[in-house]
Amino acid sequence: MGGFAKEVATVENEADLQELFALLEPERKWFVLGGGSNVIFPDGDVDTLIVKLAPSGIALDSDNGDEVIVGAGGGTVWDDVVAYCVEHNFCGIEALSAIPGSAGATPVQNVGAYGTEIKDVLISLEAFDVFERTIVTFSNSECGFGYRDSLFKREGRGRYIITKITLRLHRGDARVPNYPGVAEYFAANNISSPTLADIRNAITTIRWTKLPDPRLIASVGSFFKNVFVSVEQAEKLKKEFPGLKSFPVNDGTVKIPAGALLDLAGFKGKRFGNLSFYKNNALVIVNEGGATRSELVDLIKNVTLRVHDLFGVELESEPEMIS
Ligand code: EPU
Repeated sequence: MGGFAKEVATVENEADLQELFALLEPERKWFVLGGGSNVIFPDGDVDTLIVKLAPSGIALDSDNGDEVIVGAGGGTVWDDVVAYCVEHNFCGIEALSAIPGSAGATPVQNVGAYGTEIKDVLISLEAFDVFERTIVTFSNSECGFGYRDSLFKREGRGRYIITKITLRLHRGDARVPNYPGVAEYFAANNISSPTLADIRNAITTIRWTKLPDPRLIASVGSFFKNVFVSVEQAEKLKKEFPGLKSFPVNDGTVKIPAGALLDLAGFKGKRFGNLSFYKNNALVIVNEGGATRSELVDLIKNVTLRVHDLFGVELESEPEMIS
């Protein structure tokens, strides 16, 4: 969806970043594109300069037996990082298997799936500070992580380019994600003590049934963030909609899956012009071919209104919209 970028700059190292930003007019808009799997382009030509980081690999930074520290360049394909860790028996990111995009993009929206978020394993990251024209290091707590959120999505937007992430992983037993779909997969495949590779296979298989393969079907994965409400509001909603799924969260709120709300509202599998709600998952909007961003923006507005009217909650879009 959307137009073509007029200019793309590929950078390999800090020297390239220095050179690029020294050349760039101060008012010029730029955007770092990872895998492009969570980004929506505008219709027509894209004036924003697209910056691509070349993949710069994965390295074992330290190993003390039980614990290992793994570094990955920002442009490295994220799933290659997961594959490397699973092959070497390093536990911690197997639940984040088969997520499209680059390693440097994972902290931006604190990527998460099946009970793991990148914030659980990230020790620190390095970023090029475009204002100061230098590489800076952020510790985990300095990243301002939240649910699908970080400093890099908020006040750091337009300032930092993540060039390296450093993860703390461990050897030993992997934690089996506590999700019904995962348990069903192991039961169906007669796996009683899953290995790290079994967990990666399970997650990969489940993801590709619930989420369309972005190489074949155009989507940005989950379109809306899940909704968090008070216990009282969740009880009220469940009284009114007995089939509604909800999950208590440690902080005393209740998670209401946005997919479940859209499903209950009847959006699953429905087509609106060139867009549709994926047949296996109402949280995913699919471009059936030829959809424009303005068509998408209209659909989001209507869906958000409908969900608000029905359930009294506000849906929030999750992908990045660039200008
Ligand atoms: N559900 C429905 N109908 C639907 C879709 C979902 O009833 O059409 C119900 C499911 O049955 C389940 C609940 O909603 O009880 C939650 O669904 P699911 O487990 O598939 O996960 P999710 O909360 O919709 C989140 C992430 C995904 C991540 C999965 C797996 C967000 C916005 N999305 O989805 O991340 O893969 O959990 O842990 O938090 C992404 O961000 O692009 C993404 C794919």
